[in-house]
Amino acid sequence: MLLRPPVSLNSVGIASDRGSFVAHRRGRRYSSAVICRAALTWGIIVALPALVAAADGQGPTPSIFAPVSTPAFAIREMAFFVLGITGAIFIVVAGVTLYTIVRYRRRPDDSTSEPPQVYGSMRIELAWTVVPFLIVVVLFLVTARYIWGIERHPQPPGAIEVTIVGNQWWWEIRYPKLGVVTANELHIPVSDPARPTPTFITLESADVIHSFWVPQLAGKMDVIPNKTNRVWVDPTTPGTYVGQCAEYCGLQHALMLLIVVVHPREDFDRWVAAQQAVARDDPAVSRGRELFASLACISCHTVRGTTANGVFGPDLTHLMSRWTIGAGAARNTPENLRAWIDDPSALKSGALMPAMKLSRRDLDTLTAYLVTLR
Ligand code: CUA
Repeated sequence: MLLRPPVSLNSVGIASDRGSFVAHRRGRRYSSAVICRAALTWGIIVALPALVAAADGQGPTPSIFAPVSTPAFAIREMAFFVLGITGAIFIVVAGVTLYTIVRYRRRPDDSTSEPPQVYGSMRIELAWTVVPFLIVVVLFLVTARYIWGIERHPQPPGAIEVTIVGNQWWWEIRYPKLGVVTANELHIPVSDPARPTPTFITLESADVIHSFWVPQLAGKMDVIPNKTNRVWVDPTTPGTYVGQCAEYCGLQHALMLLIVVVHPREDFDRWVAAQQAVARDDPAVSRGRELFASLACISCHTVRGTTANGVFGPDLTHLMSRWTIGAGAARNTPENLRAWIDDPSALKSGALMPAMKLSRRDLDTLTAYLVTLR
């Protein structure tokens, strides 16, 4: 296109001969073709794996380009529109820049005096002010229309209602109408487009500002103390989707993992029924239960059906139904749970739960009790 092979580039000069071309090469000035090839190769090496990983939603991080819920579909549509416009701008600007760099680069036989200086052009200045202004107006109007469309969506009668409370650094998840309280793992039913059962989420914060973001389901929404925000999702495909706090909220901001499990309707009803039950009362671990009730655990944690009714930490009634502890700090295995009770900061430094300073025997007894809370 705009780029030519080295010999003809050199021949643009007035007094071109073989000798000056060799000197040119010795001066380590790379030809435009070489620069172009290198840029292309590096661009592909850097960008391709990231694009491939992101595009299908199967990569290590969830992608806005693999939506499964109406607000996320709208956001992808919007993203493509904005990428199209900004991509075209990039190609024009980068193209003109590259052309100018190559076409007017310094040559060995250039004179050292300054070229003629040109100031002011009403027509060009008007063009580069009015055109970007119009582009920004279009982007603004389209974005406003999408935001309006998502936020004004009315809540249908069959909707699931959930309240999610951001805490440093975990998510409390309440289903006020179903009497279920859990943490860090949101379970919702799939929403059949023929008979939609979306989930409407009320967002609150107990401490600082967090940001609720499950890229495949909806856009980001701030979680602000003393203010209530709302998001809604209507996932059409069962599966597990990953979310993450998206606003810096302190030491363990990176460990505020949120897992969203989208169930077929019957599975969801079964999950609700299991979560509604009070805690298992396994006589084999009665020593552990008594120990738990005698410790400070009960002033922060709730285990329904027992004297434990604290609300500062996660509800433990069905602790072992969750995959992780500490909002993604570790897999929820008996060994990790024991290590967590011994000293949470070993797995998640800055966690507000104190080290319980228990003897090894008490640790074992307590862990044996907690792992029965399924
Ligand atoms: Cu919560 Cu970042």
